[in-house]
Amino acid sequence: RPQSDVRKPHRPPLTVAHRGASAYAPENTLAAVDKAHELGIDWVENDVQRTKDGELVVIHDTTLSRTTDVEDRFPDRSPWKVSDFTLKEMKTLDAGSWFDPQFKGEKIPTLGEYLDRLSRNGQELLLELKSPSAYPGIERETLGELRQKGWLDRRHIRSRLIIQSFDKSSIQEVHQQNPEVKTGFLGTPKVGDLKEYAKFTDQINPTYTDATKTYVDAVHALKGPHHKTLEVFTWTVNDADTARKVADAGVDGIITNKPDVISNAVQRT
Ligand code: G3P
Ligand code: CA
Repeated sequence: RPQSDVRKPHRPPLTVAHRGASAYAPENTLAAVDKAHELGIDWVENDVQRTKDGELVVIHDTTLSRTTDVEDRFPDRSPWKVSDFTLKEMKTLDAGSWFDPQFKGEKIPTLGEYLDRLSRNGQELLLELKSPSAYPGIERETLGELRQKGWLDRRHIRSRLIIQSFDKSSIQEVHQQNPEVKTGFLGTPKVGDLKEYAKFTDQINPTYTDATKTYVDAVHALKGPHHKTLEVFTWTVNDADTARKVADAGVDGIITNKPDVISNAVQRT
């Protein structure tokens, strides 16, 4: 059989730091990336959106309220949407104090800054396009930024980058624009529909309650666009028992706010 046909499962599953090591540092900041690195975690998940002036930034919610001091600084700009603020305005915000005063002054990173930090730390990225239908063209722009930062070279494409989304058409778009880039679909398509997804995505990434052995086996029975077995990364698992359970079900990756706890738990399975 050709080499690409041979399944090489991740045993134990990879641990992916969700929004960085977000149980210990403010989510989607460089501090959360560094914390994951400090804990020896290579894979980091983030969320990418776009500012009013077209800059790609790393933030989860589509509004700035929960994770910054925007309501104090811009009281008349309700509902404080990410897409209503320029990068310059966003950079005035404190994205750390809400989590813990020791992170005061932490900023919302641009995607470029974020990639530079991952490169410096030698880390890998599971990049989520968050609510991409609100940002037409974000697939092309994200691929452009990745290319500019050297993240579309052979080494990164092979094993250091995955682009995922809950939005099927966005993932199809990424795959169409650059068929070499590995992609993931967030959700649990019906088993009967998986074959169609396998045409454009390399991963099916369900919430952990859906990551049963039966479902994982159904995903693993298929090959993705790169002729490799379709993978399953599941989210968001923050306790050892659940981690062992999904590891036993055969998942390839576990996305977690507590990457130290989860990687310890699965080492022993
Ligand atoms: O990577 C999976 C997970 O991030 C999906 O949910 O809401 O945390 O982006 P959410
Ligand atoms: Ca996410």
